[in-house]
Amino acid sequence: MSLIDDIPAAVHIAVPRGTRRPTISYPPTVVAQYAAKTFDLGIERFEAAPGETIPMYNAARSSRESAGPAVTESTFQAIGAGSVAAHHIGTAVTGPVNVLTAELLNSARDVQAPTGLTNLPPLPLCFGRTSELHWLRGTLGQPTAGTAVVQGLGGVGKSTLALAYAHRHRHDYTVTWWFAAASPDHIEQSLADLALRLIPVWAGSASTEERAAWAMLWLQWHPGWLLVFDNVEDPHDLQPYVSAPNGHVIATSRRSAGWPTSIATLAL
Ligand SMILES: Nc1ncnc2c1ncn2[C@@H]1O[C@H](COP(=O)(O)OP(=O)(O)O)[C@@H](O)[C@H]1O
Ligand SMILES: [Mg+2]
Repeated sequence: MSLIDDIPAAVHIAVPRGTRRPTISYPPTVVAQYAAKTFDLGIERFEAAPGETIPMYNAARSSRESAGPAVTESTFQAIGAGSVAAHHIGTAVTGPVNVLTAELLNSARDVQAPTGLTNLPPLPLCFGRTSELHWLRGTLGQPTAGTAVVQGLGGVGKSTLALAYAHRHRHDYTVTWWFAAASPDHIEQSLADLALRLIPVWAGSASTEERAAWAMLWLQWHPGWLLVFDNVEDPHDLQPYVSAPNGHVIATSRRSAGWPTSIATLAL
């Protein structure tokens, strides 16, 4: 299994066959089922969403597996790129995947953001744009929306508008986070930066991938944020974030095509 280059499109979670599947809507989640009788060591509980507790395997299990006879992937159905609940199994069997301990998964639930946490660049001069700011406010406020794309040629004022909106309304959000979003790597880095602000001691020595995975979980647990993805090159890069029911998303992009029809687009 190769290293993961991109932010996984989904978080993989393992549950025993016959148990209820967790109903997690964000981040996109793939639930793998496995035969519980083949896993009898090291189970601990992980609260995957409010009121949703699922079993997972701790390090004791994985060290026994890694020391034991060779195991095949088909034995372990809880393996996948981005596997977090099954990460120790993944580590033992398939090499590097996202590795977050149960403690870290729980910390994504428990860590609270300082009031008004933000990494916004300074407020720019923004003349006019009254109707565009109103459009953003109205669009993001729709119960079924939550995502808006500001599209237009380079230099037309997309980033300025998004930044002006974010500053104007930052007190309405728990966290306001600006993403350099030209590529999945850029997005991952901005997510990692968010983890660094929220859980600095751990994040200071964690990999970018681990920090980004943690930040995604944190966003799931802590609604009310605004994320601005500046200068998105490929609409697909936004896919893991646009179905998020827990906050608002603004993207700026030169791309006029390729956006899901469900996303409101403003052409400048
Ligand atoms: N509403 C505005 N009022 C004043 N200056 C603006 C406004 N919109 C854009 N600018 C200026 O125009 C330049 C390009 O804007 P920018 O937002 O970076 O464009 P884009 O993101 O579309 O490439 C910047 O120097 C910015 O400060
Ligand atoms: Mg720009």
